[in-house]
Amino acid sequence: MKDKDNNIKDITPNSMRLKNLSKAHFSNQSSECHPKVFIKTFGCQMNDYDSEILRGILRKRGFVVSGDLESADIVLFNTCSVREHAERRVYGQIASLAHGKGQMTNGKMIGLVGCMAQAHKEKILKDLPYVDLVCGPQHIYQIPDYLEDIILNKKKIVAVDEKQRPADRENHDFRDETKRIKAYVTIMEGCNNFCSYCIVPYVRGREKSRPPELIIKEITSLLKRGIKEITLLGQNVNSYGKDIAGGYSFCDLLKKIDAIGDLRRLRFVTSHPKDAEEEMFRAMAKLPTICESLHLPVQSGSDRILKCMNRKYSKDDYLRKIELLRKIVPGCSLSTDIIVGYPGETDEDFRQTVEIIKQVRYDTAYIFKYSPRPLTRAAGLEDDVPQSVKEERNQELLNLQKKIVRCNNEKYRNKELGVLVESASDKDEKFLVGRSRTGKMVVFEGPRELIGKIIGVRVGEVNTSTLSGEWARL
Ligand code: SAH
Ligand code: SF4
Ligand code: F3S
Repeated sequence: MKDKDNNIKDITPNSMRLKNLSKAHFSNQSSECHPKVFIKTFGCQMNDYDSEILRGILRKRGFVVSGDLESADIVLFNTCSVREHAERRVYGQIASLAHGKGQMTNGKMIGLVGCMAQAHKEKILKDLPYVDLVCGPQHIYQIPDYLEDIILNKKKIVAVDEKQRPADRENHDFRDETKRIKAYVTIMEGCNNFCSYCIVPYVRGREKSRPPELIIKEITSLLKRGIKEITLLGQNVNSYGKDIAGGYSFCDLLKKIDAIGDLRRLRFVTSHPKDAEEEMFRAMAKLPTICESLHLPVQSGSDRILKCMNRKYSKDDYLRKIELLRKIVPGCSLSTDIIVGYPGETDEDFRQTVEIIKQVRYDTAYIFKYSPRPLTRAAGLEDDVPQSVKEERNQELLNLQKKIVRCNNEKYRNKELGVLVESASDKDEKFLVGRSRTGKMVVFEGPRELIGKIIGVRVGEVNTSTLSGEWARL
């Protein structure tokens, strides 16, 4: 038993205790045995990673992690606060679990976990009185303790202290055991950038790098389980290691991971354009596992708006980096995030965004309508771009982007691509789905034994979202 904050108190499955607690508390038929937990995840890859860790630590404690909402005793919503729309979906789903005045359906226990919990704290209990647990991302490792405490003492828990989440936690032991091809590994917590529109630094805290040894250990353990592709996660991976004594850089980490052996593909998100430098582009070109694909969110093409957003680069700085990247990593695919309708965005500002999209010709662009977020600097500005104008700008960019991708994809026609086969197609079992190193989804006919292998596929048809082709060789 370890009682340091940084460690889980007791990870030995205490089956009998939980079984008895469960019997006493839950009315469901399913609770004849251990409490069943259903986790619904919203938001970014960080939350996907957290939910996976959560499933692992709950299983270790003796909870049953279930994919079935109906029969679950405990429902945890791992939430996102980045835009109001994301929050509304969570409020809607939790409210629909409840009926009557503040009564829960079938006596289910409900937990609201993650960024929304951190953003709204106790207020969640006022808005959603049937919620039992409100727990920020800094405290997810304590969730098994909290759930036991709630079951045992019939109380509510709000865990939202602003303390730093432990970055030196060993996560590899807790990972989901299910057989998969790809996995995320968080390399750093938090963000120091405070872009004016963004709530992330307020809900995820300051940047803190995980020690490289733990990252390597976690990846090694994932590779032993058959994982072929790793995506490293951080809000700004380029500042990895700045807080490590003696100096350590993101490129040092990339080299270390590439040298492990057995790993077939390595990706990472997100690079901040102000920090993405030549050294990283050179590492991408040199290290065989790193895929030729980069997410470099530009947010806007207008220097005036970029300044208001506190992004710390100009349109020209950004374009120069893209030029350098393309010289060093030929054929590198590029994706971006864009916000339309930031306060004060004029037609002229928006035209600059259209221009940059036309210049860069991204392979993927995630386009968002500005949504004022509490705590952020921009929340103090008037949200003065009418919703209808945000919609129009959003639609114009989506249409433009569709045309660009369609055209970009032409270069793959009749080419043979190395494809990591991920799964059978949902639509037709005869077909398999995989991705190229540049992140393009490729669909083709082939036997299931190919799943997990990298094979050659000759591309025939190309359309906006997928390429289809024929299995060429192993
Ligand atoms: N750290 C990453 C991801 C941040 S959140 C990065 O810096 O890119 C993902 C995206 O959500 C952001 O890139 C931004 O485009 C969008 N976003 C963040 N806050 C927003 C807001 N208030 N309104 C609309 N979109 C927002
Ligand atoms: Fe948000 Fe900016 Fe940090 Fe990304 S870099 S998480 S957009 S504050
Ligand atoms: Fe991710 Fe949303 Fe939180 S984007 S970090 S889950 S606010």
